[in-house]
This record gives sequence, C-alpha cells and structure tokens, in this order.
Amino acid sequence: MRVIVEKDYDTMSKVAANIMKEEINKNLSIVLGLATGSTPVGMYKELIRLHKEEGLDFSNVTTFNLDEYVGIDEEHPNSYHYFMKDILFDHININLENTFIPNGKSKDLHGYCKQYDKLIKEKGGIDLQILGIGENGHIAFNEPDEELNVGTSIVNLTESTVEANSRFFDSIDEVPKTAITMGIGSIMKAKNIILLASGKNKSKVIKQLLKADKITTKLPASMLLLHPNVTVIVDEEAYNG
Ligand code: PGA
Repeated sequence: MRVIVEKDYDTMSKVAANIMKEEINKNLSIVLGLATGSTPVGMYKELIRLHKEEGLDFSNVTTFNLDEYVGIDEEHPNSYHYFMKDILFDHININLENTFIPNGKSKDLHGYCKQYDKLIKEKGGIDLQILGIGENGHIAFNEPDEELNVGTSIVNLTESTVEANSRFFDSIDEVPKTAITMGIGSIMKAKNIILLASGKNKSKVIKQLLKADKITTKLPASMLLLHPNVTVIVDEEAYNG
C-alpha cells in the first residue's frame, strides 16, 4: 500500500486528479470506478478544470459507480445518479451511455447485482477505482460484519452510516436503510485503486488501516492489504488526527 500525505484537502484532491489525468491520457478508453460522498468532490472539481482548461478528454471513458440507495429515484437530489451528474458528468465530455451506476429501483435487485458485475467484466474490468472510506472502515457500502459480500449485493446500512449520511437529507428518517453496492471482490478486481481520506474524523480509521497487519471483515478496508496496487492519499488531518 503506497501512502501519500498532502497538506490539505485541496492538495490531496489535485494530486488524485492528476493521477487520474495521467491514467486517462495513457488509455483514453479507460474504465474508471467512481465513488460518491464528500471526499472525492474536490477531485471531481479538478477533473472538470482539467477538462475545460487543458482538454482532458472523457469521450471514450467508461465509468462504474460503487453504489446507490435502494428505492430512490434517479432524479432524487440525494440519489447517487443525481450526485454524479451534478458534480461531474454534466461538466465534462463523457458519453452518459458509458456511465453506469447501480439501479436501486430495479424490480429484480438480486438479478441486477449479478448483471452489474457481468457488465463490468464485459467492459474489460475496472482499470482505476476511486474509493472513500467510512469512519467505520467501510468501502463502498460494505459495512463491518461477520462476513463480506464478494460480488455486487444488496446490503443493510449500519446505524453509523445512516447517521453520517443524514447530513444530506432533511431528517434521518428519510435516509434509505438499504443500498446496492459493489462487493469486496468486485472492488478487488480493479487493476489500480486510489483510496482518499480527508479530515480529523477519518484519522482513527486511517490509523487502523495503515497499522493493520491482518485482514478482518470488521474493517472492510483492510481487505485492500491483499491488493497489489493501492495508493492511499490523505491530508494531514486524516493522517495525524
Ligand atoms: P465521505 O464518505 O466521503 O462523505 O466521507 C466516504 C464513505 O462513507 O465511504
């Protein structure tokens, strides 16, 4: 696991965006795995700048998002479909037909999960996966538990995740309690992974992750210790607390 510590959120975001730029320029048909949440927003802003000012070309890029709430409409302002369009897709020259986000409204959710993993495989697999990390060590919505899902699955969100995400909703009761998420195996198949973390509230989990010499389902991010190509990019607050 390679660790890069940057002085603040802005620098962390720019460093991550620059790695993405280099990877996109090396392979214009790259398949990216994208994350939602607050952490990657600065990186997406920088990617938009790189597109507008330096011509970074997304026209042949394919993207797969990690997760989506179950039962939420794509047009709902708190859906991850809405988030991705608002924060990134509407501002770059990506072909929306090449952007994939789990469909939390599918009538056959379990069948859909299998299809999602199949589609990733058909597109050649994810070249570069972006991840955030939950304060409880989750990656995507793979929450700490006795067991972790290998493939894309329907999962219950933990109380702490529902609470953390309630900041985007009018009340905690409105936060969906289930989600569709890429599994640990789907994530681990990515060729290259960047995990981002910023701020004091992530320092405890980052310490746990960087000190870990065992994998445990109680810290889902620890599975990344088995991956040969992970870069953790953090700001000083997340690193030092
Ligand atoms: P955040 O979420 O970027 O909003 O902190 C990360 C996560 O929960 O995976």
